[in-house]
Amino acid sequence: MSVTALILAAGEGTRMKSALPKVAHRVLGKPMVEHVVSAARAAGAGRVVVVTGHGAEAVEALMAGSGVDFVRQDEQHGTGHAVMCAEVLLGAADGSLLVVAGDCPLFTPETLASLVAERDRTGAAAVVLTTRVDEPAGYGRIVRDSQGAIAGIVEDRDLSPEQRAITEINTSTYCFDAAVLFEHLRKLENANAQGEYYLTDIVGILNAEGLAVRTVEAQEPLETLGVNTRVQLAEASRILQRRINERHMLAGVTMTDPDLVWIGPDVAIGRDVVIEPMTTLMGATTVGDGCVLGPDTRVTDSTVGSGCVVDSSIVSGAVLADRVRVGPRAYLRPGTQMGEGSKAGTCVEIKDSRIGAATKVPHLSYIGDADIGSAVNIGAGTITCNYDGERKHRTVVGDGAFIGSDTMLVAPVEVGRGAVTGAGSVIAHDVPADALAVERTEQRTVEGWAARRRETAQDEG
Ligand code: UD1
Ligand code: MG
Repeated sequence: MSVTALILAAGEGTRMKSALPKVAHRVLGKPMVEHVVSAARAAGAGRVVVVTGHGAEAVEALMAGSGVDFVRQDEQHGTGHAVMCAEVLLGAADGSLLVVAGDCPLFTPETLASLVAERDRTGAAAVVLTTRVDEPAGYGRIVRDSQGAIAGIVEDRDLSPEQRAITEINTSTYCFDAAVLFEHLRKLENANAQGEYYLTDIVGILNAEGLAVRTVEAQEPLETLGVNTRVQLAEASRILQRRINERHMLAGVTMTDPDLVWIGPDVAIGRDVVIEPMTTLMGATTVGDGCVLGPDTRVTDSTVGSGCVVDSSIVSGAVLADRVRVGPRAYLRPGTQMGEGSKAGTCVEIKDSRIGAATKVPHLSYIGDADIGSAVNIGAGTITCNYDGERKHRTVVGDGAFIGSDTMLVAPVEVGRGAVTGAGSVIAHDVPADALAVERTEQRTVEGWAARRRETAQDEG
């Protein structure tokens, strides 16, 4: 049966004290709402609809191109009202409708899929994900009848003194029969402490109609954390960090101190990789086998081949082939492509450039908008002068060239294959293959000058 997901993300999140809408806050580099979208998709949701309202433009821009549909809830009159707003898109949907709050970034696909499976198995009109907590204050409580079936959900503010002791809570995660849900949604009322339409009231309504409502208890209560404050945001990051790091360690990755390694949920890592402390791997990053990353390293949206070493460096939007060595303190910016066995060494910055196989840029260089061939040696301190104040220009260096230390390559310029530039040269004109280009004033040597100066200094002293 088809599965659709509806993600509620219109609330303001007042307790975050932020200009950013709550669901846009990131957990390990990924906005909370996107964690939920990923989990829903992996749980089998073919279509994902996100209800936006507070900060709608920001949330929608964040997820542009991710294939989800948006529906606006311009004024937020509660979780039930949010679902009502989605009726224009989903009123005719059939099959299962997973409803998940956008501020719950820790759900695993398995947990969401278990709600769908329970509905498939029982044919229930609704399945509610519950959990038991030591401190239920603030949450909606699950009220059960004498047979132990769910009778309803009562919000914290509307609890009777006896109900206050209930420790089984609503996680705000449901699987509905889509058609049945929209048929009964208009029966929700806002006669409660907050004057809102509570989605939670649908449980009592379905029960009154004699329609079956079931519950699934979350196996892992940590998953159900809803983020309302920045303290909980940090808690969510810590929980996810542990879960992700454990997964990688069990798959053959060594971490000398996993508490000091932060890896985003969409990062793939090969076997026998060693990750040293203070290292973050974020975004769409892939790491091959046998690499050593860190300490003090940040890799974002990059592909790292096998056998690479990245030490104390920043790599962002770059592609590294196998056996590339980076650092210490290199900065590889977007558009950097490092060929097999190449090196970007100490204090080297590279952007929008191709560095050929076995080419070395070992020390103190800036390479921007360049196409450097294979087996090239770039001497210490070499810089591509790629910007004339208005436009960027390209530098091309042929295979096997030797660029002397402290060469300024004034782009646009081309140094041919096998050519050599003299140390300290400003190269503003193309150099033919196999030529030598030196641009330097002649050296003047004054015999005995230094000794004479020392003598004068002594006489005066
Ligand atoms: C909700 C549940 C409560 C549950 C708790 C779990 C209701 C009435 N209560 O309470 O039973 O224990 O979650 O964390 O559902 N939202 C909208 N539009 C609105 C209001 C909310 O899109 O008009 C979204 C929010 O952005 C958020 C989610 O719905 O992602 C939950 O809203 P929130 O205000 O956090 O509800 P809670 O008070 O936590
Ligand atoms: Mg909440």
